[in-house]
Amino acid sequence: MTLTAVVHDAAEVVTVHEDGELGVYEEAAVAIEDGEVARVGSTGPVTREFPPENAAHAVDASGKSVIPGFVDPHTHALFAGDRSDEFEAKLRGKTYQEILAEGGGILRTVRATREAGDEQLLANLLGHLDTMLAHGTTTVEVKSGYGLDTETELRMLSVIDRANDRHPVDVVPTFMGAHAVPEGRDADDYVDEVVDEQIPEVASQGIARFCDVFCEEGVFDVEQSRQVLEAGTAAGMTPKVHAEELAHIGGTKLAAEVGAASADHLLHSTEEDIDALVEADVVPVLLPGTAFGLGAAYADARTFIDAGADVAIATDFNPNCYSQSVGFAASLSCVEMGMTPAEALVAATTNAADALDLPDDHGTLREGAPADLAVLDAPTHVHVPYNFGVNAVDAVLKDGEVVHRG
Ligand code: NIG
Ligand code: FE
Repeated sequence: MTLTAVVHDAAEVVTVHEDGELGVYEEAAVAIEDGEVARVGSTGPVTREFPPENAAHAVDASGKSVIPGFVDPHTHALFAGDRSDEFEAKLRGKTYQEILAEGGGILRTVRATREAGDEQLLANLLGHLDTMLAHGTTTVEVKSGYGLDTETELRMLSVIDRANDRHPVDVVPTFMGAHAVPEGRDADDYVDEVVDEQIPEVASQGIARFCDVFCEEGVFDVEQSRQVLEAGTAAGMTPKVHAEELAHIGGTKLAAEVGAASADHLLHSTEEDIDALVEADVVPVLLPGTAFGLGAAYADARTFIDAGADVAIATDFNPNCYSQSVGFAASLSCVEMGMTPAEALVAATTNAADALDLPDDHGTLREGAPADLAVLDAPTHVHVPYNFGVNAVDAVLKDGEVVHRG
């Protein structure tokens, strides 16, 4: 056993119990052996058993809060080009759908991504991963979906795989060939291409964990989405669904029917939809940054929680929702979606790990869990949502190694 790190004298160390409640230890320490949490408790006893001077990394966390690293379970962080002008257009009153109908939005990012070389795409993604890590994210899901053809979708997934090898943040790859209907194509015809051509190729490349679809009015309807997800499942990928983001068309129930790992967005889900998710054990992933950027009404997290759902939150980082910060999503979750800071923290760690089908102890900082943690430059975890618009993260450990210092 190697004593990888001891984080000591923290004002608090926050873990997540098996029942989803926070475990808050005051004046506490975390000892890490072989990259896993060996002990959490009061600094005195922990440092007597695991002396910091014997550790590869000793981190003095005096006055600081230590929390599980964030898991961001929904991003489109791999792309080329810039769409800041669309932010301005939306402020002048243009809608997301109008921009897309004019060939902007996703379709514009598709053109830029197809033109970009692999090294450029890799550099772009690594840059965003650096920003995420500096904001406390230790695991992130990244979707393809700006290729919309077999060659570029495969290129995207291979760049995601290389970024995962190269960067301390763990990157979970999702195939999303059904992210939009390519310009000049018919949706049914394109779904056939995704099912008959893209999915078999992606499966033979063997690196995508999930298969996602934009089940939305004017994009892919429920039956088209079902075809894509069933083909993905048959090829070994677990379904995820972008559901009821702009309109209510039945994507939430589809997620329940196909046994998706998560259903995401859910701005227009009904109580019946929510019950179906809970019944089928599908994690609702709420994305308040998207509602913020669109100027749309937020999902009401309370309705989900009261129905018994273990809600996760994510950034949805993409050119239309330009924030890599889970902390900012947590602020919005509290102020706009009715969550408590404790619920937002569980949503951004343990429940987010669940949305990615990671082992149960991921994102918990319990004894035996991977030692992925963030040290905040603040005395309590409440500062994550409370200090809105400011990065509360001072240092980050991944598998017990210090991978970021502010
Ligand atoms: O989750 N809704 C579809 N996909 C993204 C937006 C992608 C884009 O606009 O580039 C989302 O919001
Ligand atoms: Fe998305």
